[in-house]
Order: sequence, then C-alpha cells, then structure tokens
Amino acid sequence: MTTALLCFLLAGPVLLVAASPVHDPNNGTTPLVIWHGMGDSCCNPLSMGAIKKMIEEEISGIYVLSLMIGKNVIEDTENGFFKDVNEQVSMVCSQLAQDPKLKGGYNAMGFSQGGQFLRAVAQRCPSPQMKTLISVGGQHQGVYGLPRCPGESSHICDMIRKALNSGAYTDMVQKHLVQAQYWHDPLNDDLYKKHSLFLADINQERVVNETYKKNLQQLEKFVMVKFLQDSVVDPVDSEVSVLETLILSIGYLIISLMTHLISHLYL
Ligand SMILES: *[C@@H]1O[C@H](CO)[C@@H](O)[C@H](O)[C@H]1NC(C)=O
Ligand SMILES: *[C@@H]1O[C@H](CO)[C@@H](O)[C@H](O)[C@H]1NC(C)=O
Repeated sequence: MTTALLCFLLAGPVLLVAASPVHDPNNGTTPLVIWHGMGDSCCNPLSMGAIKKMIEEEISGIYVLSLMIGKNVIEDTENGFFKDVNEQVSMVCSQLAQDPKLKGGYNAMGFSQGGQFLRAVAQRCPSPQMKTLISVGGQHQGVYGLPRCPGESSHICDMIRKALNSGAYTDMVQKHLVQAQYWHDPLNDDLYKKHSLFLADINQERVVNETYKKNLQQLEKFVMVKFLQDSVVDPVDSEVSVLETLILSIGYLIISLMTHLISHLYL
C-alpha cells in the first residue's frame, strides 16, 4: 500500500484534531499526545514515528508528543507488556503536568491499549485538560483472547497467552502483566471485578468514583474507532463499548476505510 494512500486515510482523525476550534499558546494549534499500542514504541519510524511526522507536516507548528514509557525505545516496548498500567498512567500524568507546552490543554490519540490507557489519564488527571480523546482500536471493555500478536513479538505473546489462560486474575500475573490488567473474562465476572487492577477500576466496576465521571465529562469529544477485522484481540466489540453516549459519530466511511488499512499496521 502506498504511503500517500495511508496519509489520505489517516487524515480523518488528523483533520478532526486540526478542526478543534480552540486556540492555545502553541502557535495557534492544540498539542497532540499519542500513546502507542502493545508491541510498539513511541518512535518506531513505521508506526508512531510516521504518524507524528505526518501530523506535523499536516498541521504547521503543532506540538506532537509521542509517549515513551521508560528511558528508551526498548524499555518502552517492554513496558507495554510488563509494567503495571496504573504506574504507567501516573508516570504519564506527571509527565504531562510538567510539560509547559501542554498547559493550555491537549488532544489525545491512543492506539489499541494506548486508547484505554489514555482514557484512564482523562479520568484520573484533569490537569492539564484533555480536550478530545481519539481511541483507535482501544479495548475499553478489555480482552478475553489474544489470538495473534503484532510484529516481532510473537514469542513474548505465546508466553503471555499461557499466563493469561492459566491465571489472569492471580496477584502474580495481575501485577506483572499489562494485558492481564485489562483481561475481562465474561464467564467469571466476579473474579474480574474483584481482581482486575486496572480495567475494573477505570470502568467503575467496584465503586463509582464520581471524580472519574466528572473528569471524563470534561472531554469535549470522545471518538472510539473500532477495527473491523481485528485479529489480535478478542472480542472486537470491546473497542466501542462503554460510554456510548459520548461517542461522536464521525463519517462511517472514513472510519471503515481507515481501520481496514491501519489494522494491518498498528496495534
Ligand atoms: C507556527 O510554526 C510554524 C513552523 O514552526 C511557522 O512557520 C509559523 O510561522 C508559526 N505560526 C505562528 C502563527 O506562530
Ligand atoms: C477517585 O479517583 C481519584 C482520582 O484518581 C482518586 O484520587 C480517588 O482516590 C478515587 N476515589 C475512590 C473512592 O476510589
């Protein structure tokens, strides 16, 4: 597939970000924060790196921050599998709070698990303010299956799949495996509610935290994009789930074209 075509299709969310009528100190544009998916990193020239570059070319003067979780690209990739999600979210919150360029607010775009992680940022960390959240293939109701792994991480995935199947809700696995923290076993809902360290908390399964609700309602727009032919997570419907009332409906055609294409590239 050609880069030009990809650029065209990806222009959907970009235009949406660009169209935000807010004017901030950053050269008249609203900054964008992006969070990569599982097996990916902040700066892979074929994924987040390309998206960052494309957006910068598209919107002159924009500040794009592609989140790196850890000190380098290798740590960043590993942390996507093994670092406690709650810790990752609080690291990101303090990074965003300390960034002077984000003072006036920002838009956010999360890819795959980065989608639900950024929703946690919106719910837990109201300042600086997230304006629009675009979740591309985020699993907001969790996963109950990891049929295929992206890229070169397939042996890590085999290991992870075994751990998840044998005891996703054990303390040991919960603490050390990112995907366990959004593992949602529909046949054992009580176990999920009780033991899920991350997802059950942000989805308000144990108690309703009014602060989460209030913070999430501060979003001007919340866009959830679902990959129609996702082969990496199960069930696909998790990608548009809770909070449907907040979904902004953007052109179905653009979304389905776009998701068709990027589901082969990004997770
Ligand atoms: C915004 O930034 C771009 C590139 O950095 C620059 O060419 C442009 O003049 C700036 N515009 C404003 C209004 O500051
Ligand atoms: C609700 O969320 C806020 C923000 O993360 C947190 O400080 C507070 O402790 C939470 N309250 C409960 C009851 O979990």
